[in-house]
Amino acid sequence: MMAADKAQKWALELDGVGRSFGGLRAVNEVGLQVAVGSTHVVIGPNGAGKTTLFGLISGEIALSSGSVTMHGQNMSRWSATKRTLAGLGRTYQITNVMAGLTVEENVLLSLRGKSPVKYNFFSDARPNAEEDATLSRLLETCGIAAHRRDRAGAMSYGRQRQLELAIALANGPRVLLLDEPAAGLSPAERGPMADIIRQLPDDLTVLLIEHDMELALGLADRVTCLYYGEVLAEGSPDAIRANEQVQAVYFGTAEHHA
Ligand SMILES: Nc1ncnc2c1ncn2[C@@H]1O[C@H](COP(=O)(O)OP(=O)(O)O)[C@@H](O)[C@H]1O
Ligand SMILES: [Mg+2]
Repeated sequence: MMAADKAQKWALELDGVGRSFGGLRAVNEVGLQVAVGSTHVVIGPNGAGKTTLFGLISGEIALSSGSVTMHGQNMSRWSATKRTLAGLGRTYQITNVMAGLTVEENVLLSLRGKSPVKYNFFSDARPNAEEDATLSRLLETCGIAAHRRDRAGAMSYGRQRQLELAIALANGPRVLLLDEPAAGLSPAERGPMADIIRQLPDDLTVLLIEHDMELALGLADRVTCLYYGEVLAEGSPDAIRANEQVQAVYFGTAEHHA
């Protein structure tokens, strides 16, 4: 069956996706296919439209044109909440953990599908045995098992970003959008974050924005380079590394012709 085969191959399919802000075409006619279980990295200079593209996929920004399909379902008209419930997870460029809660409490709330805003210190119970096992697995995956009882806000920025990943994973996404997971990390923190992303479950599809070319190419199965809202190049990490247009954008010789 053609339709079923297609649905299994692509976790995400973007077709002619566009978004304007006033006169500015921030994302223009973007086509993208992300294979199930792959790590697909979006690179491109500041202002290229990467974060806007993620907003269009997550539903936080409305499409001006085109369509977004996840596992064969066209979700172009779905709310962000409906997309989340269908298995789309994301983290943000700015960390969004609850600083006053412990690592365990942050992840437990996400596991239970509760908003931190509604958290009640007096009525919320400890994790049950099943939640406890899931918590252990998630914290292990994200490299913060030893920090389970630490207050989130007392941890280093790098560990808070690892916690943010655990919070996103606790929702059980099938497709995870990561917007610059290594941004703001020290050189010593970047390696561990890259290792964590590499060791995410095989059936999880990851679409990741990364400005740092070497980090991006080291993580990716497939790479798309955005430039002024358009796909400049798409290919394997090696093909992208060798691409002259990509080099021009990254090493400063490119000119933009509007
Ligand atoms: N809400 C908005 N209103 C107006 N312009 C925006 C808005 N969001 C993004 N832009 C513009 O769209 C372009 C792409 O931005 P963005 O998607 O954040 O790029 P990137 O993440 O690649 O750095 C930029 O020129 C930015 O100024
Ligand atoms: Mg951005």
